[in-house]
Amino acid sequence: MNLIDLEKKYFLPVFKRNPVVLVKGKGQYLWDEQGKRYLDFFSGLGVNLFGHGHPKIVKTVEKQSRNLIHTCNLYYTKPQILLAKKLIELSFPGKVFFSNSGAEANECAIKLARKYGEVAKSEEQRAKRYEIIVFEDSFHGRTLATLTATGQKKFHQGFEPLVPGFKYAKFNDLDSVKRLVGPKTGAIMVELIQGEGGVIVAKKEFIQGLKKIAQKYDLLLIFDEIQTGLGRTGKIFAYEHYGVEPDILTLAKGLAGGLPLGTTITNQKIANVFAYGDHGSTFGGNLVACSASLEVLKLLNPKLLSQVREVGKYFHQNLKNLQKKYSFIKEVRGIGLMLALELDFPGAKIVSACLEKGLLVNCTQEKVVRFLPPLIINKKDVDQAMTILEQVFKKI
Ligand SMILES: Cc1ncc(COP(=O)(O)O)c(C=O)c1O
Repeated sequence: MNLIDLEKKYFLPVFKRNPVVLVKGKGQYLWDEQGKRYLDFFSGLGVNLFGHGHPKIVKTVEKQSRNLIHTCNLYYTKPQILLAKKLIELSFPGKVFFSNSGAEANECAIKLARKYGEVAKSEEQRAKRYEIIVFEDSFHGRTLATLTATGQKKFHQGFEPLVPGFKYAKFNDLDSVKRLVGPKTGAIMVELIQGEGGVIVAKKEFIQGLKKIAQKYDLLLIFDEIQTGLGRTGKIFAYEHYGVEPDILTLAKGLAGGLPLGTTITNQKIANVFAYGDHGSTFGGNLVACSASLEVLKLLNPKLLSQVREVGKYFHQNLKNLQKKYSFIKEVRGIGLMLALELDFPGAKIVSACLEKGLLVNCTQEKVVRFLPPLIINKKDVDQAMTILEQVFKKI
């Protein structure tokens, strides 16, 4: 039996996989079992910021694995503490919690918001400010609370009753947010670019307006930067484009160079909301992942970020040129190296045709072809991807 048949036999059928078995990666390339090479413009769902097998990340992982892979969070360990310090230096004064995934990072944010809603208010209002305003077409994860926070019906179906306390506003629409603010509201949770939702960029006035609403009603502002963070948009954090800092920031995906690591960063206002025992994780802050993450943060230097902005602009312009040629491309969207084409037909066949020609891309929201290449790509890689896209679109 081949591997694809074995997967069908033994896996819960939740993943619609592309028909290739990937066995090796180097830089921006991947290889399958037959030795065919692919240009990776999806980075394992936006994870492999430095491509595959980056020597510095590999070396750190090897070294830390030899020293100590895991203890537990009942002891102090150097990589975790150094990483917490570095993340705070890069973001804003406050504290961090480490978990293993984006969903867990958001769960922690949701729990913090509920606990804050309880302790921040007067005795008669205790435990009442538990509502969180989230957005239509958002994506925050697959645990029960984060899928409830996800403003898309398709993720809810079959899993009701959902977690109470989430209210859905319209993205980029401040009035829809104001209408939902009430005495039970405790927080607003938002992506700066809705990734899974189709690479929809938040307007500057919208994010700045959310900050004003949060300040006016003493709400926590939570930015889910699980997809947009860590250089993806050409800044370390996408919120830098907006000039607005959140109260809570969540990161995961590229944080540990491909190893599982999530983090929830809080500002000082809520840094002491949790007490001993309020939250925890066995694996969260794994030492190998934290060591890899320290290396990732070193690699995210100003030179690399400026390269992301330059190559991102070049790619964006090339996609715009493609749009001029093909009227079925409705829109080109995104910032830095988080880009997308919205088509007027389902994009699955584009993904398959690109795969056939050795280019890995993704389709979300049925008609949106999404590009999340590693941050290390150069203009030649973009040219190579554009040649394949041209060939594919010519045949449509
Ligand atoms: C914005 C955002 N939040 C949360 C998640 C969930 O992350 P994970 O799959 O690591 O749980 C994702 C994953 O795609 C995401 O894009």
